[in-house]
Amino acid sequence: MEYMQKVKKLNAEKILYYYIFTMGCQLNENDSEKICGMLEEMGYKKTENQNNADLVVFNTCCVRENAEDKLFGKIGEIKKNKENKDVILAIGGCMMQEKHMVEKIHKSYPFVDVIFGTHTLHKLPEDIYKALQNHHKVEDILDIDGEIYEGLPIKRSDNIKASVTIMYGCNNFCSYCIVPYVRGRERSRRKEDILQEVEQLAQEGYKEITLLGQNVNSYSGGENYGFAELLRDVNKIDKIERIRFVSPHPKDFTDNVIEAIAECDKVCKLIHLPLQSGSSKVLKSMNRKYTKEQYLELAEKMRNRIPNVVFSTDIIVGFAGETEADFEDTLDVVRKMHFEQVYMFIYSKRVGTPGDKMENQIPEEIKHERFDRLKELVESQMRENNEKYIGTIQKVLVEGKSKNNPNMLAGRTESNKVVVFDGTESCIHQMIDLRIMSEHMWYLKGARL
Ligand code: 5AD
Ligand code: SF4
Repeated sequence: MEYMQKVKKLNAEKILYYYIFTMGCQLNENDSEKICGMLEEMGYKKTENQNNADLVVFNTCCVRENAEDKLFGKIGEIKKNKENKDVILAIGGCMMQEKHMVEKIHKSYPFVDVIFGTHTLHKLPEDIYKALQNHHKVEDILDIDGEIYEGLPIKRSDNIKASVTIMYGCNNFCSYCIVPYVRGRERSRRKEDILQEVEQLAQEGYKEITLLGQNVNSYSGGENYGFAELLRDVNKIDKIERIRFVSPHPKDFTDNVIEAIAECDKVCKLIHLPLQSGSSKVLKSMNRKYTKEQYLELAEKMRNRIPNVVFSTDIIVGFAGETEADFEDTLDVVRKMHFEQVYMFIYSKRVGTPGDKMENQIPEEIKHERFDRLKELVESQMRENNEKYIGTIQKVLVEGKSKNNPNMLAGRTESNKVVVFDGTESCIHQMIDLRIMSEHMWYLKGARL
C-alpha cells in the first residue's frame, strides 16, 4: 500500500499508461485483475496498445508449451519501444517460478526491468518503485509458498461476472503438471474473507460468481468447514444468482459436496470434471488417483443425485505411454459422458515434472492424429447436445451485445452455452427466459417468449 502511494507521487503530474498481457487460466486472469487494481492505484491508466505504454506487464503461464515462444516474441516487441522512450517492462506469473526461464531472461533479455513470481504479487508496487528510482533491475521471486495477502485493490474486467480465488497452490502432483512447482502447496483463504468479497460483489451488482482454485474441492476453511459448507454459505448471499467453480478434482468429490450442489439453487448444474485420460493405466501413471470406472461411477452418482446435471472436462492426448487402446478408452468415456464442453490439450513435456522423464513418449504426429480424432468426436457430440436445446426454454444471464453481431444481444445458459437473441438494451445484465430456436455449433439462437 505504502509503495503504491510512493509510485503515485513519483509519477505525479504525468499521464502514464500501462499495458498488460495475460496468458493462461482463470486464476492468472484473476491475478491480472489485482495487478491492474494496483497499477491504477499508482496512477497508471490502462491502454490496449502496447506501443503507447510506459509500463508493460506480462503475466505468464507455463502449463503448456508455445507460451515461451510467444513471450519471447512479445519481449522483442517491447525492446524496440524501449529504444525510443522510457518503458518499464515487468514480467511475472508462473513461468518466472521456473529457474531455467529466469536464467534465459537474464542471459538473452537483460533489459527486462522487473521479474516477479507468483508468491510476490503484492510486492509489485515496491518492485516498480525501485525500478523507477534506481533504474536497475529488480528480481522478486520467492521459492517458498507465499502467504495470502488480502485487501489488494482489484480492477475487474467484467461487470456482471466475477471470479473469486478461494485457494492457492496444489498438492496433487499429477505427473504431467507444472502447477505444484510454480504455485506451491495448497493454501485456503479464510472463509470470512471469501464471503465478504462475494457480499461486496453482490452489492456492486455482480450476479455470477466463479470460485477459483487449482483443486477447489479440497478447500479448507477450518474444522468441519470444507468446500460443501462454502458453497452453502455463498448460496445464501442475496443478489448473487449463479455460482460456478473451477476446477474440482474427481478424487475429492465427496458425497457432502454432491449434496451441496444438489441443494443449492444458485449453483449451476454444469460440473467441470477433469478426466485427463479415459485409460486406467494412463491415469495411474498420471498420478490421478482414480480409474476409468471410478470416474464413470462418480458421474453416474451425480446424475442420480443432481437432476439435469451436465458435465464439461479437460483431456490430455498423447501422454507418455498412451497406446492406441488407451486412447480408445478416452474416446469411450467421451462417448458415454456426452460432455457439454471438452477442453482438449496435446501433452507437452514440462521440465521438472515426472512426465518429462518417462519413457515411451508419443511421437508428435501420433499425438496430433489422436487429437484430431478426439476433436471430431467432440464436435459431433456437441451438435447432438445442442439439438437437445432446441424448443426448450432456458434462463439466460444477458451479458451485453453479441461480439459478432452488435444488433443482437448475447448471454449464457446455466450450462454456459452462448445464446444470441434480438432484445432491447433493458435486457442487459438481466436473467431472462428465452426459447431456443436453432443451434450453430458455438452458439444457440433464442427468442423472447
Ligand atoms: N500438457 C498438456 N496439457 C496439460 N494440462 C496441464 N498440464 C499439461 C501438460 N503438461 C492441462 C490439463 C489441465 C489443464 C488446465 O491443462 O488438462 O486440467
Ligand atoms: Fe496440475 Fe493435477 Fe494440481 Fe490440477 S490437480 S493443478 S492438473 S497437479
